[in-house]
Amino acid sequence: MPKLKLPAPLIPDRMKPPPKRPGTETKSRGAAAEAGISVIDWVDERTSLSQSARVMMFRKIPKGTNWFYTLGSATLFAFLSQAVTGVFLAMFYRPDAAGGAYESIRYVTNEVFLGEFVRGMHKWGSSVMVILIFLHMARTFFFGAYKYPRELNWVVGVALLILTMAMSFSGYLLPFDQRAYWATIVGVNINGTGPFIGPYLSDFLRAGPEFGATTLSRFYAIHMLVLPGIIGALIGAHLYLVAKLGTTAPPWIKAEDPVQREEQA
Ligand code: HEM
Repeated sequence: MPKLKLPAPLIPDRMKPPPKRPGTETKSRGAAAEAGISVIDWVDERTSLSQSARVMMFRKIPKGTNWFYTLGSATLFAFLSQAVTGVFLAMFYRPDAAGGAYESIRYVTNEVFLGEFVRGMHKWGSSVMVILIFLHMARTFFFGAYKYPRELNWVVGVALLILTMAMSFSGYLLPFDQRAYWATIVGVNINGTGPFIGPYLSDFLRAGPEFGATTLSRFYAIHMLVLPGIIGALIGAHLYLVAKLGTTAPPWIKAEDPVQREEQA
């Protein structure tokens, strides 16, 4: 009986493997590179992530965009660096007011491999982030980026600014040395002088009638759980609005005259 030849199944173009690049067929490096591509393709085919990445990343930017526009991303990088170094510090830190907190910080600084370096990055990184956030805010202010339709992004930014300051404030107590202790007492008391919510806020921060063990636990929870979570979510909203609305052109760039453009065309 003659063999029945079925037609080849129709494979959509995007599912066909890409053509081999000349010279890569036999070399092992070529095969490894191809494997990487096909893994990415495999994930992409099921998630379409590359499409959303393209929508977010490939955008038109206004004429005159300059280095000042990198300050937001620099702030983002500082935040991520704080998150990474903070995770390593949390592996050793003990929020124990009876000497444990101080001792754990001493241990990280003097005994742990690269501990002093990571602690230094986290400590100086907090000042760097505060400086960068102010510079970024100044850029958006002087370029008029707070105006319609970006008012909401400005408001989200203000919340980020307050939360970043709260991060610095809550982190300052954690070494629980003399300076941290007394500086935070002053800070909590200043909070208490605020109108209406001031006294409630300082009670909340003190976490009890006395400044002590419960205060340290509260500050630690606020510093490493509450604030980073809220900041992360707000940065997401902030970047979504940047991607949706685009960035503002520098104030010295004149808008094109549509009539003139028509005439030139
Ligand atoms: C954690 C803090 C922050 C991060 C990570 C961040 C990140 C960014 C990034 C990446 C951009 C786009 C690029 C650029 O314009 O630099 C941007 C834009 C913007 N940011 Fe922030 N930002 C932060 C805080 C703030 C603050 C404190 C304000 C103001 C109070 C603010 C207001 C704005 C505005 C209005 C825009 C739009 C700029 C434009 O249209 O040209 N941001 N931000």
